[in-house]
Formats: sequence, C-alpha cells, structure tokens
Amino acid sequence: MKRVFFNIGELATATGTAAVCGSAQSEVKKLHGAWLLEENGTILQTGESAAPDADESIDCGGRLVTAGLVDCHTHLVFGGWREHELAMKLAGKTYLEILAAGGGILSTVRETRRASEDALCEKTRTLMTEMLRHGTTALEIKSGYGLDLETERKQLRVIRRLQEENPDIAATFLGAHAFPEGMDHEAYVDLLCSEMIPEIAKDGIAQFCDVFCDDGVFTAEQSERILLAGKRFGMTPKMHADEIKEIGGTQAAARVGAISCDHLSETGAEGIQALKDGGVIAVMLPATSFYLKKPYGDFRGMIDAGVAVAVATDMNPGSTPNLSLPFAMTAGCLYGRLTPEEVLTGATLNGAAAIGMASRLGTLEPGKQADLVVWDADNLDQLIYRYGTNRAAAVYKRGARMA
Ligand code: NIG
Ligand code: FE
Repeated sequence: MKRVFFNIGELATATGTAAVCGSAQSEVKKLHGAWLLEENGTILQTGESAAPDADESIDCGGRLVTAGLVDCHTHLVFGGWREHELAMKLAGKTYLEILAAGGGILSTVRETRRASEDALCEKTRTLMTEMLRHGTTALEIKSGYGLDLETERKQLRVIRRLQEENPDIAATFLGAHAFPEGMDHEAYVDLLCSEMIPEIAKDGIAQFCDVFCDDGVFTAEQSERILLAGKRFGMTPKMHADEIKEIGGTQAAARVGAISCDHLSETGAEGIQALKDGGVIAVMLPATSFYLKKPYGDFRGMIDAGVAVAVATDMNPGSTPNLSLPFAMTAGCLYGRLTPEEVLTGATLNGAAAIGMASRLGTLEPGKQADLVVWDADNLDQLIYRYGTNRAAAVYKRGARMA
C-alpha cells in the first residue's frame, strides 16, 4: 500500500546513514511545497513537483515535516516521582547534596524496587505515549534504578515488553548509576563486573552498557573496568561524563570505544579532542542543564572541532522530569549555541546513530523507515521559536498514524 504525504510547506531532513559531524551537522536538506511517498512503511521518494498518485493521500496543510525524533538518552522506567525535592532545590541544595542525604537517585531506587513489573510497564508505556505525542518515535531507555540484579532485570524486562509494541527502543544496562546504600564502592564494581554484567548478558536484552562517571560517583578507572566488562559480554559502551566535574571520563570513553558520551557540561578542550579522536558521539542534554541550573557545555566547540553532537532529553524523575525533545532542541539552540539545523540533526540522525539505528531511522530519504512528524509550524525556525507548547500535529511510524 502506497501513501503520499503532500502539501508539505517545508520538509527538513538530515541526510545519510551514519552520524554526521563538523559542518555536515548543519547541512539539512529543505524541500518546499514538497511531498513524500512511502510504501508499507518505507520511504520511496520525496520531491517538490506535483505529488504522485498513491492509495492514500495525506494533506500536510503547508506545514513542517521532519523525521520522527530519536531520543537517545532516557531513564524512563522508574518508581515514584521526586517533586518533593523541588523545595530542597529551590532552597539551594545541589544535586549531589540531595543524593548524599539519601534522596536523589537512591530514593527512586527504593521506589523502583518496591514497584511491580506490571506497574512499571504501565507507567513507562504512558510516558512513551506522551513522548510520541511530542514527536519522539524511537528512543533509548536505561535501567539503573535497581542497583541489584533482580531490580535491574525487572527494569530491562519492562523495556523488552515495550519493544514488542515499538521495536525502535534501545535498551541500556546502567547498573553503575550510583552505589547501593551502605555498600563498599570497590565491592559493588566487582559485583557489577563479575556477576551482574554476565547475568544481564545472558538475558540478551541490553545492547548497551552505561556508567555515571563523575565526581562522587564512579571514577574513570572504575568506569573503564565496568564498560570493558560489558563489552566482553557484547554490550556497547556508553557513558554519563563531565556532568559535575571533568574526571577523565571522555578519555576513558574513547579508550573503551564508547558509542556516545553524554552530558559533557564541564568538558574542556582536551576532553573534546578525546571525543574527536575516539569518534565518540557527544550527547547534549540541555533540559538537564536547565532544570539543574548548570552549564550547557561547549557543544559549539565540539561541532567546530568535528565531533558529532546528538540532542536528547535525559528524561528521568530527578534531574530532568521533562520528555519534550523539541524543548531540549530550543534550549540547545539558545544556550548550547547550536543552530536549528544542528539540533534537528542532533535529535534525529545523530540520535539514531548514538543508539545504532541510523541505517534505518533519522532522515527522510528513500529506503528509510517512514517515521515522520507533521509539526504545527511553517518551518524549522518556527518550531524552535515557538517553544514550550507541543507543536506535533500528527506523528507517523512506518507510515501509520500513531498520534
Ligand atoms: O542522567 N546523572 C545521572 N543520572 C541521571 C539522573 C538520575 C536521577 O536523578 O534520577 C541523569 O541526569
Ligand atoms: Fe542520564
């Protein structure tokens, strides 16, 4: 069955099947008065002249159409919320002070351990549906609120159940998100490497392994050990690095061949060079910087140095209770000093590349999956400019309307 989307005011898309870096990140193709033809969920062609005939024709009303957004960094499976921390934040307590007081990640760990798998699944599905309504058609989800084998597995099983509903979900094991309360740090690293990672690998759910490498959490040396253990068991390394302080995470990420390094709000010139030399995708999380009132990171410098930058939400109950990727894109432009074209590439093609999906997702080109968003905006600039309200008018996955 063929479907044509016609009367597209502006069709804006990155191009290619791999992460793009440097000046290529801003090379977004724009067609005006355009159409897109798909057959059985795969894009056949796009063009600007008269639209071809098809079994079904969808009038896009002269609006902006982009590829479905790809959110390559979320912590979407969690028990409870943490709105009670808002008052502490407003009183000036830092993220790490809240964590040290038994709040933060550890309070979500307690709630996640208590929650049933079915309840977690229902809650995550609701959040995913909301993300879809905001234009996100593919995403990554991390575990990391169990910090014990049983609960980490429970989170990953939730992800697997949701993959049956949307196959474009990448699963990441983040057992190294924090240290379990009362446990010796080295003992936990040993447990992760010798027991948890091998057991998680047997389940075959997690494609990626991630570590929170930062001041007061996992050291660069510990992170490297954990990621190498994950790699031995077939999981591709990822890393949370330089969110609070630069402690050598980018260099460790490059050494282990990480596919991405995320946060990077404190990364300096040497870290940027390490990312570039290692071919590591830098994932910008501007909604996190916004909510934590922290620096946005030198992503301008990263692109200028030739690093590929992706943009994601980091949706989680603590540092980023916000799932709107368009909001992150606007913040990435205003405070991260990227252009609308660069954040579009970051939230589509480079995001897809950061979770190994760029061969089939992230652009509107022949052969790619027909995942697309019709935005209630005339053009890309208007989408970025009209921030703070949801402008996704219609969302399609494999050609079928989902929201
Ligand atoms: O990516 N930085 C570490 N982890 C999450 C926050 C998790 C939480 O606070 O629950 C993040 O921001
Ligand atoms: Fe995160």
